[in-house]
Amino acid sequence: MSLHLGSTAPNFEQASTQGTINFHDWLGDSWGVLFSHPKDYTPVCTTELGRAAQLKDEFAGRGVKMIAVSVDSVEDHKGWIGDIEETQNTSVGYPILADADRKVAQLYDMIHEEADNTLTVRSVFIIDAAKKVRAMITYPASTGRNFAEILRVIDSLQLTDNYKVATPVDWKDGDDCVIVPSIQDPAELKERFPDGYKEVRPYLRMVKQPGK
Ligand code: BEZ
Repeated sequence: MSLHLGSTAPNFEQASTQGTINFHDWLGDSWGVLFSHPKDYTPVCTTELGRAAQLKDEFAGRGVKMIAVSVDSVEDHKGWIGDIEETQNTSVGYPILADADRKVAQLYDMIHEEADNTLTVRSVFIIDAAKKVRAMITYPASTGRNFAEILRVIDSLQLTDNYKVATPVDWKDGDDCVIVPSIQDPAELKERFPDGYKEVRPYLRMVKQPGK
């Protein structure tokens, strides 16, 4: 079964650098970012996993746990973590799944055979506290991801959940947001946006970022 936005994130039990992980138990009540990389001891992956580690507090502040995965072994991951920590000046606090049997890769469709029939592509799954898949991002092996963009997507999703606003093109934290189209009742609009909003068009209503 293919995964879509809104699907329940498939559960699995897999070995990791922090012991065997039951994914749903490990997530608990947190949001999660599950991200795959093609291979240990490769240059782009080294920078990516380092950046993810450096952003630990940013993810934790949003209630998000990070977990990486590739088809390499726990032993390889552990050796490589030493390199990541030394070269990227950080400490890898999140687990890296050792998916040698491709259990996770298959559940999450991370091996795209036309690209590479053995290695995982750079997938990102953002999963909410109800274990629903809220965003999926896929990059090729040769392109390192932008982890600031992953945080930006999480911020947007959490703003929508908490305040019923969406985020317009190129939005960044602190910029104005848009009121979701489903809110039409004047009383609800007044209650949710007591400081008012700007109606550019009836369907395009700009509001200061709530909670700022
Ligand atoms: C890298 O992480 O540098 C990489 C991995 C697989 C293919 C190409 C680049």
